Amino acid sequence: MEPSTVAIVTGATRGLGQALAQGLMQADTRLITVARSHSPELAARAEQTGCVLQQVQSDLANPAAAERVAKQVVAGLPPGAKRYLLINNAGTVAPIHQATELDNAAAITAAFSLNVTSVMLITAAFLQAVKPLLADCRIVNISSGAGRNPTPGWGVYCATKAALDHYTRVLQSENHGVRIVSLAPGVVDTGMQETIRGSATTDFPNVERFTQLHQQGQLALPADVAARILRYVAHDDFGANVLDDIRNHA
Ligand SMILES: NC(=O)c1ccc[n+]([C@@H]2O[C@H](COP(=O)([O-])OP(=O)(O)OC[C@H]3O[C@@H](n4cnc5c(N)ncnc54)[C@H](OP(=O)(O)O)[C@@H]3O)[C@@H](O)[C@H]2O)c1
Repeated sequence: MEPSTVAIVTGATRGLGQALAQGLMQADTRLITVARSHSPELAARAEQTGCVLQQVQSDLANPAAAERVAKQVVAGLPPGAKRYLLINNAGTVAPIHQATELDNAAAITAAFSLNVTSVMLITAAFLQAVKPLLADCRIVNISSGAGRNPTPGWGVYCATKAALDHYTRVLQSENHGVRIVSLAPGVVDTGMQETIRGSATTDFPNVERFTQLHQQGQLALPADVAARILRYVAHDDFGANVLDDIRNHA
């Protein structure tokens, strides 16, 4: 039986991506995930739900690996589905340093590869595979408020998310017949937030604010944000605002 939905989610082993993947798992869905590790939780959930799951392990911070994996994930896409969804979610906030200390080319390049280059490569492969199918095709790039507001210490992260936003606008302007949004998810209680709270004040002067948000229980739960994102993605007017923030939607 052909699946009704074919979805690709990157960074689905933890945090927001894992919650998105879990939210997508249904018997009529074929799900392909990409991350460096394998998730036993996702495998178990696939067994329970009957969702056909393929977990691809790859380091998207390595451009050559990202190029290979982009071709691999679309190679076996079943052609008869009603809906094709790509969620480019994998990302890193590292390296966190003031501009004077941003002197490690490998760390900067790895962040750009994961947060930007791999998105372009997977999107290119996805478009090549799905455009001939004339199905309902949607892409969500998980962005950040950091791409829209400068944040001291996040020179690399802000630059990658601003690049992601602008790339998404270009993508939309090319009229591929695919609905596309670059979406900020808000402040979500994930491993990335632990990394942020573990930053030195000298590197990240706002660290206290993020510690307080956590202590005051103001971080959103990944499952709640994922549910809102999946409702938003399914909506008829998805794609109307190419740059959006899930906090603008119920
Ligand atoms: N959490 C927030 O408050 C927040 C706010 C704004 C935007 N965001 C954005 O939301 C997205 C998800 O963030 P999160 O908070 O869920 O992050 P997270 O908890 O750190 O999870 C990151 C996910 O990406 C994968 N990943 C990391 N490095 C990778 C690599 N080199 N190659 C392949 N996969 C890799 C990880 O899997 P492996 O370790 O198994 O590779 C993991 O599944 C990111 O794009 C982030 O920028 C988050």
